[in-house]
Amino acid sequence: MEYSVKSGNPEKQRTACIVLGVFEPRKLTATAEQFDKITDGFISNILRRGDLEGKLGQVLLLHNVPNTLSDRVLLIGCGKERELGDTQYQKIISKAVQTLNDTGSMEAVCFLTELNVKGRDSQWKVKHAVETSEGTLYNFDQLKSKASSARRPLRKIIFNVPTRRELSEGEEAIKQGISIAQGVSTTKDLMNLPGNICTPTYIAERAFKLADDNKKVTTSVIDEDEMKEMGMGAFISVSQGSDEPGKLITIEYKGGEEDAKPIVLVGKGITFDTGGISLKPGAAMDEMKFDMGGAASVFGATQAVIEMGLPVNLITVIAAAENMPSAKASRPGDVVTSMSGQTIEILNTDAEGRLVLCDALTYVDKFDPDVVIDVATLTGAVIVALGHKASGIMSNHNPLAHDLLNAGEQAADRAWRLPIWDEYQEQLDSNFADMSNLGGSAAGSITAACFLSRFTKKYQWAHIDIAGTAWNKGKNKGGTGKPVPLLTQYIINRVVNS
Ligand code: BES
Ligand code: MN
Ligand code: ZN
Repeated sequence: MEYSVKSGNPEKQRTACIVLGVFEPRKLTATAEQFDKITDGFISNILRRGDLEGKLGQVLLLHNVPNTLSDRVLLIGCGKERELGDTQYQKIISKAVQTLNDTGSMEAVCFLTELNVKGRDSQWKVKHAVETSEGTLYNFDQLKSKASSARRPLRKIIFNVPTRRELSEGEEAIKQGISIAQGVSTTKDLMNLPGNICTPTYIAERAFKLADDNKKVTTSVIDEDEMKEMGMGAFISVSQGSDEPGKLITIEYKGGEEDAKPIVLVGKGITFDTGGISLKPGAAMDEMKFDMGGAASVFGATQAVIEMGLPVNLITVIAAAENMPSAKASRPGDVVTSMSGQTIEILNTDAEGRLVLCDALTYVDKFDPDVVIDVATLTGAVIVALGHKASGIMSNHNPLAHDLLNAGEQAADRAWRLPIWDEYQEQLDSNFADMSNLGGSAAGSITAACFLSRFTKKYQWAHIDIAGTAWNKGKNKGGTGKPVPLLTQYIINRVVNS
């Protein structure tokens, strides 16, 4: 899709469709009112007849509207004017884009970016209009024998901003919006691909492709033999049960000063999590193909940063492995030695995420990181704590935690912090090793993070548990692309504020 910004009057637009908002109850938005005058009250007459109340997400498509240059006018219900926040705005844009795509307008001029959204400026509204449009039109049909494409799909949207002064900001917003949206789509694709296709080897190939088209990007992969030599006994203990070879993938993007310390992202990339010998129950086990959501999201965010060419050094490390039961798999009770030298008693082979991550987190210390942020579908417990609306953040550094929470708020990709106080650490005590990989049923997300914190003492670190936010269940089953917007916004902010 093509996007642009413009600052013009609705009645002067020569286009396939112009999109205007109507509040509840039957109240025209400022632009719609201006347009109504030119059309001799055509719109207000229709509202008076009761065809559109203005409820959030209602639509009415009009043809042959007098005194206009556009083929169609699409009215979108915006709900109560005073209740217009992020979620409502996204619903409005999404409904508009879906309707345009379904009804044959290949191009449109959209005035919904002029709506007042609580606490948001023009730049935000344009950027999120792009992200929401791409999110709405996303579909994953690459594994179907016939693609389900619209007959006359929407090709181009022009978003209107109130004044010409907002045009250059708007253009910047479009660039950012497209890069983030593409990062989100890549993340969704990687997540939606099943475990028999999206293997650790496949993710490694995709990482090499990222480096192919860009001189500033280098990809390297550490295989299991090298991991063994490096002492990554925790990672190997997960991967050893599978016939798919595990990979530790590093993508290095040098966009900043030569000597600037890198931001390091680490992603949990379990391409399928059966639980191992501590086998998971069968119901909905297919969803465990999404257990590489952390890896997919750091991959997508990295792609967005590269695409925007941000002046920052970014290193992304993906711990990719499959967790399978087999004769070679780890048993409950096995004790392994991590790369840090600390020993771990594996009391539950289904707590595998922390095992691959702890070695990856020890490994990244060699990059002398500015900060390290790991992202993982780590615990079912974070769903109990926060549901599917916010990711869980745990950190050993307050300013980093705050920056991430703020970035999430800005990006409408929210997170909430949980504590990792020392008092929780004793839940990881083991009779036979330095620690157990199991913290018991209380505060499961926190004890998982406490486990990781034993490997991240040397640098500023945050952990984002996305088990509740990375995918949708049910009819809309599929990756959400979270927390790509949060991560990307954090990095954008770092560049702007440095
Ligand atoms: N990948 C799962 C976490 C998960 C569970 C994500 C359900 C989304 C939905 C992780 O590897 C896991 O199995 N965690 C266990 C940890 C437990 C054994 C300490 C869990 O959360 O039950
Ligand atoms: Mn597991
Ligand atoms: Zn897992």
